Amino acid sequence: MKISDLTLTVVGIPRHTGFINKHIIVQIYSDEGVIGIGEMSDFSHLPRYAPDIKDLTNVIKSIIVGQNPFDIIKINQELTSNFPEAMYYYEKGSFIRNGIDTALYDLCAKTLGVSVSELLGGRVRDKLKVCYPIFRMRSIDEVQENIDVVQKRFEQGFDTFRLYVGKNVDADEMFLERVKKEFGNKVKIKSFDFSHLLSWKSTLQAVKRLSQYDVGLEMIESPALANDFEGLYHFRMRTDYPVSEHVWSMRQQYEMLKQDSVDIFNISPIFIGGLTAAKRAAAVAEVSSKSVILGTTQELSIGTASMAHLGGSFAHLDYTSDPTGPELYVGDVVKNRIQYKNGYLHLPDASIPGLGIELDQQLIEKYRVEDLSWGDVTVHQLQDRTAETIKS
Ligand code: LMR
Ligand code: MG
Repeated sequence: MKISDLTLTVVGIPRHTGFINKHIIVQIYSDEGVIGIGEMSDFSHLPRYAPDIKDLTNVIKSIIVGQNPFDIIKINQELTSNFPEAMYYYEKGSFIRNGIDTALYDLCAKTLGVSVSELLGGRVRDKLKVCYPIFRMRSIDEVQENIDVVQKRFEQGFDTFRLYVGKNVDADEMFLERVKKEFGNKVKIKSFDFSHLLSWKSTLQAVKRLSQYDVGLEMIESPALANDFEGLYHFRMRTDYPVSEHVWSMRQQYEMLKQDSVDIFNISPIFIGGLTAAKRAAAVAEVSSKSVILGTTQELSIGTASMAHLGGSFAHLDYTSDPTGPELYVGDVVKNRIQYKNGYLHLPDASIPGLGIELDQQLIEKYRVEDLSWGDVTVHQLQDRTAETIKS
């Protein structure tokens, strides 16, 4: 069997917050008539340049057409030669590799008539505990709307949240105080996510203030500047809370191990470049007795299904994971959206071959956009995932 063709389709889908995210829907065709689908999720992150979609399609075709789709490791090696790893969290080459790798898994699993889970080594669980994100507040005026989000999502079954913090610690503190007072132990804030915005010492000061309102805090995420491995270690030695950090390249994961920088590796296929790479990162965690959580960029249903299969196979998933993308967007491009119940992400039905997700062409047309070009957004909007202009 050979890969015969590839299409990449760009869609722009708004979130409930108004922020529009652009994603590429991948379709890989085999000469036996099977189509594998994948997602290069969320190109709406810094840096503010965009791959040309026609050029990208031609380049990837030149790499994969004519290859056996089951040669997943070899194709990944060639993809990495063309889209190398970088020491950067939002490296777009990783998003590109992830979309292709996912579509290969879908294509191969469909060809064999098995679920992607089975290609990944089977399931040790059928559902994953996840949290709903509360985006970063830049002023105390934003506290009330985030309390409303907690209330609304709690009513829908989400009892665990994570909070992006560190731009306005007064607002963070006010929010947490209100959550503690108004929701008691009905809800948990499982993580304070500093997104590499502060030096480790500034994070330490902020955590001292915010941890007075500990409501089920499981970890502190990204508490040092990006790639400051020693800073992560110093922070980790001064806090009782487990420290988590995303894995965005093999070298970076190695450095985090060498410096003993973290307790938990946050692994998401999008940021490490696919299921194949994510499995490797999880194996490294297991070998070094570190924990793992399944992270997210906020994918659509295809990307989330792929992560659900992956998370279902992780041996040591000791903490609450993050993927809730399909709940954040106003729409999707599939016939069967991924399901959340009582705060859990449910794996697609194991009896459906592939990812277990079917594309909806009408919805693709509805959300289709010309290209990945950037609109009129600011760095702050991109960092904080918000459509509003900055309140001074
Ligand atoms: C999102 O798009 O909401 C996340 O990827 C934000 C982040 O950087 O954690
Ligand atoms: Mg994202």
